[in-house]
Amino acid sequence: MGWLMWCYQILCLQLVLLYSLSCANLCSNEQSSALLHFKQLFSFSKDSSPSWDCDSSYPKMMDWKEDTDCCSWEGVSCDRVMGHVISLDLSCSWLQGNIPSNTSLFLLSHLQKLNLAYNDFNLSQIPSDFVRFPNLTHLNLSHSNFFGQVPFQITHLSKLISLNLCGYHLTLETLVMKGLVQNMSHLQELDLYSVNMSTVALEKLEEMMGRRDEVAGEVGGENRRQLEEVNRRQLEEDKWPAAARREMAAGRS
Ligand SMILES: *[C@@H]1O[C@H](CO)[C@@H](O)[C@H](O)[C@H]1NC(C)=O
Ligand SMILES: *[C@@H]1O[C@H](CO)[C@@H](O)[C@H](O)[C@H]1NC(C)=O
Ligand SMILES: *[C@@H]1O[C@H](CO)[C@@H](O)[C@H](O)[C@H]1NC(C)=O
Ligand SMILES: *[C@@H]1O[C@H](CO)[C@@H](O)[C@H](O)[C@H]1NC(C)=O
Ligand SMILES: *[C@@H]1O[C@H](CO)[C@@H](O)[C@H](O)[C@H]1NC(C)=O
Ligand SMILES: *[C@@H]1O[C@H](CO)[C@@H](O)[C@H](O)[C@H]1NC(C)=O
Repeated sequence: MGWLMWCYQILCLQLVLLYSLSCANLCSNEQSSALLHFKQLFSFSKDSSPSWDCDSSYPKMMDWKEDTDCCSWEGVSCDRVMGHVISLDLSCSWLQGNIPSNTSLFLLSHLQKLNLAYNDFNLSQIPSDFVRFPNLTHLNLSHSNFFGQVPFQITHLSKLISLNLCGYHLTLETLVMKGLVQNMSHLQELDLYSVNMSTVALEKLEEMMGRRDEVAGEVGGENRRQLEEVNRRQLEEDKWPAAARREMAAGRS
């Protein structure tokens, strides 16, 4: 009877081992294939990441292989419990190609951090589909050769803490600036250096920042200069860190 019990225990142990091995792949097939499809959009060239900031760069995606756990891939981080991909850092990854709006990247709905800085997206537009990452807190698209209007939809990312759009071919409209100010209450870091904001006047900017009305009551609205002074001080104190304001001023000129 004893040895039967013993056999039974061994069997159980093996089953448990088998089970845990099959669970070792944290990453789901859907996520793996989404990432691998995204990879297929690009060719890799060191010329796409020419910056000093990419000193020891290499094409991170090259090591992404089927039948391995995507959570262990270079640049990919997963939630330890659920295995959701929550962070993707592909900065300085030599990527060259366009990002179409229906790309499989947007299936990774749990993403919280996305860094595509220092790549060459071939003067394509920033896809509006970033809204499909409702929990995104960090978005870094700096120096990635995007072109055109910053899409309005970006203002829906109300959990953003850090947003970096620094790049020479982008334009930011008043409406988007308004959305950024209204919706992004958690924003701590905003880099719009060299973004074309020529249509966003400083006065408008301050108005949008939602301080004018509050302050107007206080000041009485008689001395315009004084009002603006108060506005400016309030803005500086309440809303934006010094770096962000500097970037804005720089981008405006
Ligand atoms: C964006 O990514 C680049 C490259 O990794 C890094 O140097 C920069 O500090 C990042 N900016 C923000 C705001 O995270
Ligand atoms: C870059 O865009 C141009 C024009 O849209 C296209 O012809 C070319 O194939 C693209 N290059 C890459 C690497 O995707
Ligand atoms: C995206 O759309 C293009 C053309 O509209 C299509 O060829 C391609 O297969 C689509 N890709 C995905 C991932 O759905
Ligand atoms: C976003 O975060 C909330 C709160 O942490 C969570 O309940 C929700 O499932 C998350 N959504 C996605 C798509 O990850
Ligand atoms: C704020 O975000 C919500 C969705 O989260 C969106 O419906 C709304 O249009 C945004 N408002 C502005 C002013 O951008
Ligand atoms: C910025 O945008 C405005 C309006 O779209 C345009 O007239 C101007 O030439 C742009 N400036 C630069 C430096 O691209």
